[in-house]
Amino acid sequence: MIHGNNTLAIAVQAATADQYDRANALAANLGIPLLQKDTKEFQYLLICSADSIALKQTDKNGPGPIMVNFTGPTMEYRLKHGGGRSQALARAIGLKKGRQPSVIDATAGLGRDGFIMAHLGCHVHMLERSPILAAMLEDGLQRAKQAAAQTAEIAGRIQLTHADSNEFLQKLKLQDWPDVIYLDPMFPERTKSSLVKKEMRILRGLAGDDQDAGKLLDIALHCARNRVVVKRPRLAPTLDDTVPSHAITGKTSRFDVYLV
Ligand SMILES: C[S@@+](CC[C@H](N)C(=O)[O-])C[C@H]1O[C@@H](n2cnc3c(N)ncnc32)[C@H](O)[C@@H]1O
Repeated sequence: MIHGNNTLAIAVQAATADQYDRANALAANLGIPLLQKDTKEFQYLLICSADSIALKQTDKNGPGPIMVNFTGPTMEYRLKHGGGRSQALARAIGLKKGRQPSVIDATAGLGRDGFIMAHLGCHVHMLERSPILAAMLEDGLQRAKQAAAQTAEIAGRIQLTHADSNEFLQKLKLQDWPDVIYLDPMFPERTKSSLVKKEMRILRGLAGDDQDAGKLLDIALHCARNRVVVKRPRLAPTLDDTVPSHAITGKTSRFDVYLV
């Protein structure tokens, strides 16, 4: 597991010669090696290309690559056909006409849910503790800010901090409490079939199992103004023994809502 900068497990590679300077700067920032030629020495590679930083497993049979991409067709489709203000996520965070809650997305991951919430008009502060994922998010947000006007406007509502949410939330001053704290911790693996599951496998390999998610929920409940929302697979048990106020079930996920 790579929570910190495990120099044996991960390295940066430039996809093309013109990406060398960016790759070099990224490697220096993360304190990990820059790979000059292919080697099996590393379990993961962060590949800098003209349009993303992609994370891939070097194992030929491994899943991946994964990337943060707020401008590609997958996100475009989700923004267009995801159900807008009536989708389960929007209802779970309490979005109403004329009311866009402020959100801390305390488990940002690849930033997709956070970006959807910003698309719905919320100001979203993403927190991510994995330095690798935080760097990928930073890169994705910079690209989104330079993209077409609507994407840039959405990205303008997003702030990103590389931090452990357990610590960050405990230090939050009362005036900075958000309306909503959103949690989507890793869920134990079941099958390995779909693309989403493959993404989750590589994400889990990188970021771990989030076994402290119950503690994060407890902390979040003490510094949200209105509610904490926890995303779970549709039929999964609740995150811990705390009983949600209600749940909103979508196609594949359930959102447990804890009103405070
Ligand atoms: C399942 S992913 C979230 C996926 C995300 N909702 C998305 O739409 O892409 C969980 C992420 O939460 C992060 N995480 C878990 N606990 C955290 C904590 N205490 N502080 C910051 N990040 C945390 C993990 O590193 C991982 O990247």
